[in-house]
Amino acid sequence: MTSKPRIRVLTGITTTGTPHLGNYVGAIRPTVQASRDSQTNGFYFLADYHALIKCDEPARIQRSTLEIAASWIASGLDPEKVTFYRQSDIPEIAELTWFLTCVTGKGVLNRAHAYKAAVDKNNAAGHDPDSDVSAGLFMYPVLMGADILMFKAHKVPVGRDQIQHIEMARDMASSFNHLYGEHFVLPEAVIEESVALLPGLDGRKMSKSYDNTIPLFAPAAQMRKQIAGIVTDSKAPGEPKTTEGSALFQIYQAFANAEETAAMAQAYADGIAWGDAKQMLFERIDREIAPMREQYQALINNPAQMDKILLAGADKARQLATPFMREVRHAVGLRALSSGTATPAAKEAKTTAPSFKQYREKDGQFYFKLVDAQGLLILQSKGFASPKEAGQTIARLQTDGIASLPDLNHVLVPLTPDKEPLLAQALEYLSNSTKNS
Ligand code: TRP
Repeated sequence: MTSKPRIRVLTGITTTGTPHLGNYVGAIRPTVQASRDSQTNGFYFLADYHALIKCDEPARIQRSTLEIAASWIASGLDPEKVTFYRQSDIPEIAELTWFLTCVTGKGVLNRAHAYKAAVDKNNAAGHDPDSDVSAGLFMYPVLMGADILMFKAHKVPVGRDQIQHIEMARDMASSFNHLYGEHFVLPEAVIEESVALLPGLDGRKMSKSYDNTIPLFAPAAQMRKQIAGIVTDSKAPGEPKTTEGSALFQIYQAFANAEETAAMAQAYADGIAWGDAKQMLFERIDREIAPMREQYQALINNPAQMDKILLAGADKARQLATPFMREVRHAVGLRALSSGTATPAAKEAKTTAPSFKQYREKDGQFYFKLVDAQGLLILQSKGFASPKEAGQTIARLQTDGIASLPDLNHVLVPLTPDKEPLLAQALEYLSNSTKNS
């Protein structure tokens, strides 16, 4: 086998706000950390098409895009090592959205959480169910599917509220693959369990919608002032304080190491004055943020430089997107009239390459098989309870090739020895064709 293909990790950030400490601790910092792993190939993008669904202020979208991009770079994302781009610089995304729209059930979109929440709210208020709901909100999951499937992402780190969208993207990929042959990789959501949910100034989760955030790169003086405003109880200096339920303590913990955290807990027990604890918190955060703040300011002051970085990223992304869209257009029949036969074959020969086929049997279980270029069966699965499990097994085979067989033996029908070389060859082919060169 050739060298192992790297796992492609992709995530997007909607460009409607200014990054705050909660975004930093919950998303930016862990993602930048993960992006340094040489086993992965990272795709990070500014979801500005998505922003239009939520925001109709052009200046705010533009400013937010600059602030988010500058925040990620200042926080250590290396645009040379990853592909960092603006969604709207990739026109292929909009095009793919249409192809996916055509394989997505309207009923599936009716059940999307964000759309359903809007409908429920209208119903509760006695309004028309779709009152004030744009078709953009309705189509949100399909646009997100295009983001993910365009780059054949294996893993998509997201918040819990986004899991359903990843599942929908998988369904779009399976439907398309079923109709037109294996073109898309089925993605998986990654939920980072260990990452802290940061409380905000009022003790609730730090969130723009609660108006309780501390901007990540506010000037130091402003950050100090905001930290002074974090809610505490009214215990006097000298009185022992409890760390449990203390927003100040939780924020401190998100920045401090174990030793520093233990020292702060001791200071609480010893009755540290709230003013002193806040000063310690400010100093600890500033120690991490101050060096980045400078680069952030430099980028904010030089938006042309940011444009350049993002356009270079878009260039890199389009080197994959442009040929891939050519492949997808061809697959659905949008192709030169002179290419191949223009008479409708009973079933078009999709068998120019090995491919996985997913299907459901009368027993109600979900199966897949792998057939080679001539349609010869080379691998057969046992039954799965859900299409998702079948899809995950296929994804694993595509990513890890024959190396995954020992782990997957229990869900596969045993191979006859004569099939082994064929299987190795087919998986190698599939992993190369999904690999990012
Ligand atoms: N919907 C995501 C959010 O609100 C942002 C997003 C857009 C995204 N496209 C994506 C995340 C693709 C992951 C993959 O958080």
